Amino acid sequence: MDFETRAARAGVGWDSAYRSVATPIYQTAIFEHQKPLVPGADPYSYTRLGNPTRAALEHTLADLEGGGHAFAFSSGMAAIYATLQTLRPGSHIIATAGLYGHTFAVIQDILAPLGIRAAYVDTSSVEAVLSAWTEKTAAVYVEMPSNPLLRAADLPALASICKERKARLIVDSTFLTPWGIRPLELGADIVVHSATKYLAGHNDTLAGAVIVRSPSLAEELAVLQRLTGSVLSPFDSFLTLRGIKTLAVRMERAQANAMALAEWLRGHPLVEEVHYPGLAHHPDRPLFEKQARGFGSVLSFAVKSPGAALRVLERTRLILVAESLGGVESLITYPWTQTHQNIPPAERARLGIHDRLLRLSVGIESAADLIDDLAQALEGAGA
Ligand SMILES: Cc1ncc(COP(=O)(O)O)c(C=O)c1O
Repeated sequence: MDFETRAARAGVGWDSAYRSVATPIYQTAIFEHQKPLVPGADPYSYTRLGNPTRAALEHTLADLEGGGHAFAFSSGMAAIYATLQTLRPGSHIIATAGLYGHTFAVIQDILAPLGIRAAYVDTSSVEAVLSAWTEKTAAVYVEMPSNPLLRAADLPALASICKERKARLIVDSTFLTPWGIRPLELGADIVVHSATKYLAGHNDTLAGAVIVRSPSLAEELAVLQRLTGSVLSPFDSFLTLRGIKTLAVRMERAQANAMALAEWLRGHPLVEEVHYPGLAHHPDRPLFEKQARGFGSVLSFAVKSPGAALRVLERTRLILVAESLGGVESLITYPWTQTHQNIPPAERARLGIHDRLLRLSVGIESAADLIDDLAQALEGAGA
């Protein structure tokens, strides 16, 4: 069946006791064993090791990503940390320059002291990835697309390089979701999500996910998830599953809004740059068209001065100043001092993340209302 149908029916048919259509929240830490006791015979014993609500979500995630095994974690960072813990001490990673700040911090502050080193390159260039390769490179870690300039990576090309050189391709697919792109089908080994964003979709829960096809990687991740305990709670599993049911319609609506806003911003006299892959001038539009169903609903734009950027933030009324993305509400952030503040200033400058840039996560409100809000914010902010 098509993606839309499978998403809408997420979790249906899981309640063998009463045939409830909504997935029940099994809010329990423990499950009583049947008697006589047969070790290993009962499907559930202890919620850290497994819970039916979480299992329904994991089944859905694996299905929608076209992968074999999914693991739901208590946040995107917990999912990413578990993924990176599968790397051996001494290994080398090539990662997207300008990674989400906390992923960058995990690599630099937690993994580097354990002997795992990273090189940060523009992963929209296959040559840049190849030139950073060392004999210890064990993984290429890509955010597809990058944030906040929305540069794409050529996943099939990177996957074949990784395969040839026996490294893993790990893709943070938070911005496009399996509605927009399915990295495992393009050759990636591991997909990670901050399910806090589009998958859950309502800014009401933190959640993370890892999806893989390889049974041996799945076994490693299962051990990490169960032993370290950063599992998604039954209630948050329920909320994420409920969010996924409307993923396709939310993505379509949010993306249509983002396109309308990007085009409007491009024609505004106080706006100097607009970065949205759906626009014809975006350098990676062809790469998106080649591998993704759409462009997502995050965009960034530059105004004429840092002062004007701060004034826009002060003046928006409908669009909330909050550091996230992918929810039904539109949000605006200032990467310079918020999402990207722990990237050294020189590196931010090299990446084109400057102090006049604002990032918008476009929600599912009326595009006309969002444009009105931006119009009054920009007008009052001036140059
Ligand atoms: C691309 C990306 N990956 C990972 C994360 C971390 O996810 P979480 O906040 O759910 O831990 C974020 C959060 O903003 C993100 O934007």
